[in-house]
Parts: sequence; C-alpha cells; structure tokens
Amino acid sequence: MKKILTLLLLVACSLPSWGAPKTPLYKDPSQPVEKRVADLLSRMTLEEKIGQMNQYVAYINEDAPERKAVILDVAAKGHIGSVFQANTPEWANELQKAAMKTRLQIPILVGADAVHGAAMIWGTTVYPMPINFASTWNPEYIRKMARQTALELRSLGSHWSFFPNMDLARDPRWGRIGETFGEDPLLVSDMGCAMIDGYQLGDFTGTDRVVACANHFVAGGSAINGINFWGSDIGERTLRSTYLKPYYDAVKKANLFTIMGSHNTINDIPCHINKWLMTDIMRDEYGFKGFYVSDFTDLERLHETYMVARDHQEGYTLAINAGMDMHMQGPGFYEPVIEAVKKGIIPMERVDEAVSRILEAKFRLGLFEQPLVDEELHKRVVRQKAHGEHALEAARNSIVLLENRNQTLPLQPEKIKKILVTGPNANNKTILGDWTNPQPDENITTIAEGLTSVAAEHGVQVDYFNVGENIRKGLEAEKIKEAIQKAADYDLIVLALGEGTIRYDKPSRTDGENTDRTDINLLGNQLELAQQMKATGKPVVVVYINMRPISEPWVSANVDALLEAWCPGQAGGTAVAEVLFGEVNPGAKLPVTILQSVGQARLYYSMLPNAPFRNGYVEMKRTPLYPFGYGKSYTTFEISEPRIAKSVLGREEATTVTVTVTNTGDRKGDEVVQMYIRDDYSYGVVRPIKELKGYQRVSLEPKESKEVSFDITPEMLAYYDLDMNFKVEEGTFKIMVGNSSADKDQKTVALKVTESYPVAR
Ligand code: BGC
Repeated sequence: MKKILTLLLLVACSLPSWGAPKTPLYKDPSQPVEKRVADLLSRMTLEEKIGQMNQYVAYINEDAPERKAVILDVAAKGHIGSVFQANTPEWANELQKAAMKTRLQIPILVGADAVHGAAMIWGTTVYPMPINFASTWNPEYIRKMARQTALELRSLGSHWSFFPNMDLARDPRWGRIGETFGEDPLLVSDMGCAMIDGYQLGDFTGTDRVVACANHFVAGGSAINGINFWGSDIGERTLRSTYLKPYYDAVKKANLFTIMGSHNTINDIPCHINKWLMTDIMRDEYGFKGFYVSDFTDLERLHETYMVARDHQEGYTLAINAGMDMHMQGPGFYEPVIEAVKKGIIPMERVDEAVSRILEAKFRLGLFEQPLVDEELHKRVVRQKAHGEHALEAARNSIVLLENRNQTLPLQPEKIKKILVTGPNANNKTILGDWTNPQPDENITTIAEGLTSVAAEHGVQVDYFNVGENIRKGLEAEKIKEAIQKAADYDLIVLALGEGTIRYDKPSRTDGENTDRTDINLLGNQLELAQQMKATGKPVVVVYINMRPISEPWVSANVDALLEAWCPGQAGGTAVAEVLFGEVNPGAKLPVTILQSVGQARLYYSMLPNAPFRNGYVEMKRTPLYPFGYGKSYTTFEISEPRIAKSVLGREEATTVTVTVTNTGDRKGDEVVQMYIRDDYSYGVVRPIKELKGYQRVSLEPKESKEVSFDITPEMLAYYDLDMNFKVEEGTFKIMVGNSSADKDQKTVALKVTESYPVAR
C-alpha cells in the first residue's frame, strides 16, 4: 500500500502543474548563461533594455535623503541597471530590493572605484597606490591585493571594480600617475592583467569575485601638457604598438570584460565615440566580448564640452553607435535614447548587443540567485588580518631607495639616538593617496607614528613637529624656523615632503585626478625647509610621499638619503620606518622616468634614437634625474654578461638569454633583473632605443647567486612596418640585461634574425 502511494505521488509530481506559474528559463541557474541572457532579452521591452544601459552614482551622505529617494525611485522603475559607490551593504540591499519590484526583477550591478582596495568606502583596507605596486616589479602583489579587495567589495554589496587603470604615464605634469602602473607598456600590461585576474579569477563566475574594468580607453596619460581631458595626436602605429598593447593582452590573457572610456580625445575625436578603436579594433580584431561604460558624464560632455553633438540625444547616439554600452551617470539618458531607437537612429541590434553583455555580467556574478548581500558578512571580511598584512607587505616592497650617502641608511641606533620627524606629509593621511574617502584615524599608521614605534624597538626616540600640512598654501614660516632651531637637539632629521594627495581635502590637494601641474618640483616652500635643515649640519633623510614623480635636483644632490615611498597606504608609516631601520632592505625600482626638470617632459626611456641625438638642451642633457627601472639597495649586486642560447634565429624561432645575478654584499636583498631589446635597423620606421621585454625580481642571501633567464619570442622582436604589417624583420638586435634602463647599468649580447616573417596580432 505504502509503495502504491509513493508511486502515485511521483506521478503527480511529474505532471504539469496546471495553473502554477512556470519559472522563466532565465531564472533557472542550471541553464547556461548564454541561454539565460537570450531568454531574458526576448522578454524585455525597449524601455527595460535602455534602463539596463543606464547608471547612477549612489554615493549617499546621511544628509542626502532626497537623492536617496530619487535613486530608489529610478531603481524601482527599472530606469537604471547599475549604480556605483553604494557605500554600505544596507544601502546596496535597499537598491536591490527596489530593483526586485520591477517586472523582470533584474538585479543591479554595483560598481566601485576600487583603485587600491575598496578605499572609497569607510573602514576598508587601504593598500598602497597602483604606482607602488608597479614599483614592486612583481605582479603577484597586485593580484593578491585585487583578490582581497574583491572579497571586501562583495561583502559590501559591490560587484564591479572600475580599475585597473591601464594608461601609460607619459607626462609627469598629469595628476593621475599614481593610479597607473607607470610609463612602460609591458609593465602596465603585466600589472593590469594580474589585477584583473585577482578581481575576476578567470571569467568572474561566482559570488566571491568582481568584474574588472580596464580604463581609460585610451591614452588618457598622454594628453597634451599633462592636462587631464585634453587629447593627443597619436598615429595608428604608436597606438597599436604602445597604448593598445595592455588592452590586447588583457583581452587575450585576462578575460577582460569591461572597459571605461577616456576623457581625452585622440586625433580630435573624443574617445567615447571612436568606433574605430572601440569596435573595429577592440571587438572585431582583438575579440573583446564584454561591454563599455562611459566615464563620468562624458556622454553629456559630447554636447556640453567637446561640442561634437548639437544636443544630448545626438551625443548618446554617436557614442552608442560607436560601441558604447553603458552610460555613467545620471538622469537625462533614458528618455532620449528610447526616442532615438524609436526614430531608428540607434539600431535595435546595437541595444541588444549592449544589454546582452550587461546581463551576462549579472548572471555570471550570481546576482539573479543572490541579489542581496548578508549584511553581517563585511564584519568578518573587511580589514581581516591577512588583508592588513598584505597592505604592509606590498608597501615594504614598493619603496624605492633613490639616494643613500655616507652610509646614512639603514639607521644605526648606536649613533642615532634621537630623530626629529617633520614635513607636510609626516603625520597625516596623504600616505593613502587618491581614490580614498575618509578613513578612521586608528586604521592608519602615519610616517611619524610608524617611525616612533619602530624606533622604540631599537631604543631610539622620535619626536614629531608640525610645520603645517597645506603644501598649496605653503608651510608656516615661523614653524619652519622653530623646526630648524629644534634640529640642534637631534641626531638626524626625517622630512616627509611631496604632494597633497587627499581627494576630499580640495584646498590642500596638489596631486591626483584633475590636479595637473605646470611644474614637477617640490611645491611651495618645501625646498626651503629641506635646505635650511641641511644647513644645520644634521643628517637629513627625505621621504617623498607623492603620486607624480618629483623632480628636485637639489634634494637629490644634497640630502643624506632619499626614499620614494609614493603613497604606501594604511601601513605606509610602518613600512617606511622598517626601511629606514634596515628591517626591510628596499628592492623596488622606478616604473617611470624621473626628469631633471619639467622642460624635459615628455622624455621617457623608450624614446626614439633621434630624441637623444646631439648634445641636449641649452641647460642640460637629455638624460633623466633617475632612469626608469632604477632603485638602490642596502646590498650590492653583480649581474654577469648575458649568455644567449642561440644567437642566430630562423623563421619563428625563439631563444633564451641568461644571466647570473649575485648578491655581492653582506645583507639579504632583492634585485630586479631587466631585459631590453633594440632593433639595430628597421626598414623605414624608427624604433625605440630600447624596450623592456622581460624582468624578474629575485631575492638573494649574501653571496648567493641565481640564474635568471628570459625567453625571446618572435612577438618581442616584431614591429609594425611601413605598411602596418606586424612582423619580424631580418637583421641584428641588441639584447641588453641589467638593473635599470640606463646604458651604464646594462650588458649587451647580439642576436641575429635571418629571415623576415609576419607575426599574428
Ligand atoms: C574617473 C573614473 C571614475 C569615475 C567615477 C571619473 O572622473 O575618470 O576613473 O571611475 O570618475 O568616479
């Protein structure tokens, strides 16, 4: 009897349940993402589709209830598909709940400007800036940082990081250098791809990862005179071989899925409407399968600023037809775009393409299954111990030692008993860098605090003296006087100088987004402070806290030691102190060239041979203050002559170059071995004097040696010839290996290629 009942029940269950609503396919997680996207798209009205292409900024202060109501209203009506800076999990959940009131219940994709941790959100881990990560010359640090940041973001209800910045920093006046990985395409590509991978872990399928967004597409770091928003004239050859390389690699190697447009123009065309770049090259040639988001209100600026559209609707139309998929940000987009589609000036296929990709991201991220985040989760995830440890470890490995005279560093506690620390950046949050909102004081170790506690372990006393913090306004003359008088009581002075980097402190900010300069020296009266301090006869150690490279030749030539710490993040004070006391032996290298003066802009290490030709300028040579790839250590290294496995290569052949690197000093340390290539003659097209093609950071015990090998592949030798074919040309090449980009730091071996042949790209 029992068996019969069970059978009846099974039969009943397998019959169609008349009347019960059938779950639509797109809500079934067992279905493949492509099918779910197609099913959902087929159910959507035009209005619902355009809503998905629209984004609002959701950053809300306590005093903004009206804004909150507006955003909740558009979310509940389905007029937005995305927001960014929803700064608490509760707020992110409120927005998702509003989206759940829409007919199709499509969750909201929540973005964040997570440049170095989720630092725009209160109480998160603030890692060093990207320029610090680039200075480590080891992509593993940024991969790990991005992984940890993904966990923090997801626990806070965000799913999408608007970074890495894959601009090449080619003009030191530009304010955004700190958020880049420097001037070199290979380093930018490696760091950017590692960051994407850390965020996404492949194709970002899952509820514990975020989708990355490479930006700013493209060449934002090359705008004329370093002016954010302006543009450049860049020919196709340079675009393809230099600026597009990181994007090409990110698509091919790192599953890049979203790209943000760039404020600048290229050859007078705003990047947001450049169909050739966005669609013909990125999608059709390189195979980019994700979606584009515009940069902040740049679509409105097509009408208001660039004046390439007579009204907003024309601007949106130009952008969407060129390949733009999502609008950042605000009202004004939804209705005119619906109208434009109805008028037939935006094709429906373009809309479907855009919406499909946006939906694909939401499905992969698991948002349909789990739109809400557990509001308790962030308490366990954010600022967990491992994240803080990594923020410190990355900072330690990112500090570049530029000068060290008279064996000043590491500090010798037998001689140095009392240290005075001062300067505008000695005891504040400039160490955090740009893209940071206010953070609790107790989460940050300033330079003065770090130095005080590390010095105490060595029996050394540290006192901090405030000479004022506003570099823009200038330091207080009276306070400088007092500091100089005080110096008499101390054995050594530490000066934390540089730039004002705090985003929310506009009056004192001198570095960061939209903070370009006409000079690259120490701003205000900082140099006076350094000079007067040096005149006291006390040893002076300068620590630069900044994001754009600073050029102050007097400091370089006169102080006893100079550290480029960039913006080393929440644990920056500890890391700097550990370097000063030799607990950490600095092993970082510059990811940018530091010029002798602003007039040298824009020289960079991979210039063409006709640039350094002849003597130089009237005032100086065309050599930098510090070359790209440069950085000192407390130990010394010897790099052997390079040995090449095969010095003559035929068609499509590769080879390997090997050096032995030895720590010849008496302290453990890291060296970054760098390999550059130069094509001796290239038919009709001038090629750079050298290009970085490989690097490896190695740790060595005193007297230890290691072999370091680099592959030399056809792609590394190839270039775009006169007819824009990417090819290897027969002829001779120089392979240069050393510990910086400067000729004097390199040893060379010759390579010959016997045949010309095309290389796929
Ligand atoms: C920046 C972007 C950023 C956006 C939103 C823009 O001004 O260029 O990098 O994602 O603002 O904050």
